[in-house]
Amino acid sequence: MKTDQAEEQTAQVELHSLRLSDDIVVPDSILSEAEKNRAAAFRSCAARRLFVAGRVLCRSIIANLLGCTPQALCLAITPSGRPYLRDYPDIDFNLSHTGDRIALAICRGGHIGIDIERLDAFSEKEACEIMPMILSQQELQQVHQLNERHRHDVFLACWVQKEAALKCFGQGFLADPQNVMLAPGSTTFRSMNQTSGETIFIHSGQIIDGESGDFQWAIATSRAAAEPQWRHHKSGIFF
Ligand SMILES: CC(C)(COP(=O)(O)OP(=O)(O)OC[C@H]1O[C@@H](n2cnc3c(N)ncnc32)[C@H](O)[C@@H]1OP(=O)(O)O)[C@@H](O)C(=O)NCCC(=O)NCCS
Repeated sequence: MKTDQAEEQTAQVELHSLRLSDDIVVPDSILSEAEKNRAAAFRSCAARRLFVAGRVLCRSIIANLLGCTPQALCLAITPSGRPYLRDYPDIDFNLSHTGDRIALAICRGGHIGIDIERLDAFSEKEACEIMPMILSQQELQQVHQLNERHRHDVFLACWVQKEAALKCFGQGFLADPQNVMLAPGSTTFRSMNQTSGETIFIHSGQIIDGESGDFQWAIATSRAAAEPQWRHHKSGIFF
């Protein structure tokens, strides 16, 4: 019997989240010169803080995993902006931020993309405007059959699933989100990039946190992975 290689080899996934409270100073001392320069180029203070905190989070956690110092890691960037570990091709990671929340996904044995959005990321009206640009005809029909409240939730889930998939493939929205076929309403499934034929495995869900807001999240991996568990960190551990 023919077996599917993608299913034979599974990926190991870790998910980390950090809530960046307002009172925390975020030092950039462990960043590379290139990262410091990029941080300095941000016009918005909030965006700069999130960028620096994301890099500190990712350097600290991956260095701990590898048993090296955070400064020793070389984080390179592809031409489409995707960061990766230059010296560790077997380990992939991806970052997402929204509001004061940063999410980091680490994957051994495959590629990964992550997206996180607040549940109130867009209004009903905005959702109706964006949906035809993101969803395929078939997905759009399925979503339109739902009642208004459910439609918004399912579309938000589709949005983060597509963005996670496009980030896993590496092009982000330079690629057409309509080419990633979803199963609206499902939280774990296998899909395919209609253009490249690449397989993608999706897990998604919500983080309900009354204090800092509620979030929809999704990860997409190039190999099947077990249901991932989140580790939520406090800012004080890193800064
Ligand atoms: C990737 C993309 C979907 C992220 O959108 P966003 O609204 O900033 O969303 P998120 O907060 O979820 O993700 C940001 C993170 O995604 C990662 N990222 C950036 N480009 C990426 C790409 N092409 N593929 C995968 N991940 C990417 C980065 O780690 C970034 O965080 P950082 O800037 O702090 O390092 C969006 O930027 C995009 O479509 N980019 C297309 C490529 C592009 O325009 N490149 C131009 C610069 S070279």
